[in-house]
Amino acid sequence: MIVHFFECRLELVQGDITTQSVDAIVNAANSRLAGGGGVDGAIHAAAGPALLAETDSRYPEGCPTGDAVATSAGQLPAKHVFHAVGPVWRGGMQQEEQQLRSAWRRCLELAVEHSCRSIAFPAISTGVYGYPVDLAARASLETVRDFLVEHRQPEMVRVVLFGEGAYGAFSRVLEEMVQ
Ligand code: APR
Repeated sequence: MIVHFFECRLELVQGDITTQSVDAIVNAANSRLAGGGGVDGAIHAAAGPALLAETDSRYPEGCPTGDAVATSAGQLPAKHVFHAVGPVWRGGMQQEEQQLRSAWRRCLELAVEHSCRSIAFPAISTGVYGYPVDLAARASLETVRDFLVEHRQPEMVRVVLFGEGAYGAFSRVLEEMVQ
């Protein structure tokens, strides 16, 4: 599914984020930047050990929830990896939505700071961290829309959904948003 906000393009695709040829890909990391399973494991496996070496040396304190840090991309087709730390879902009253929006916004800001024309996101927090996917879709896609309307960049934002369920949830929310 593709929609435009001014001259910017927002795409939803089903697939694997590690194969995306874009300027930056976003990792759903933990606050220790220690690597893990899920999309984090897939990104580190595809990028090679340089990524963990770089997060260890540049960000020894890790990264707080709701924030993101940038590294190079090792052997991935992208130029940069933005390691974003989404919230663990604890029922919705612990500022999870605010933190999820902040993680997405920080990645979009990093994209502008690094002159990225294109960026690909996974569905941050919707795996191990347990954020309900329909609620995550709304908070995430509204954040992208608001950023693109305000800043008119990056040119292309792609959300790469790993399964049919996540793709369906994100497309339903996006359809509602553009009606
Ligand atoms: N490409 C795109 N999306 C993927 C991929 C992939 N290769 N692999 C998994 N996903 C999807 C999952 O299906 C889920 O919808 O990414 C989404 C986020 O899931 P997780 O990777 O579990 O991330 P998150 O919920 O944010 O939990 C982060 O998990 O791996 C650890 O170190 C990580 O501790 C951190 C935690």
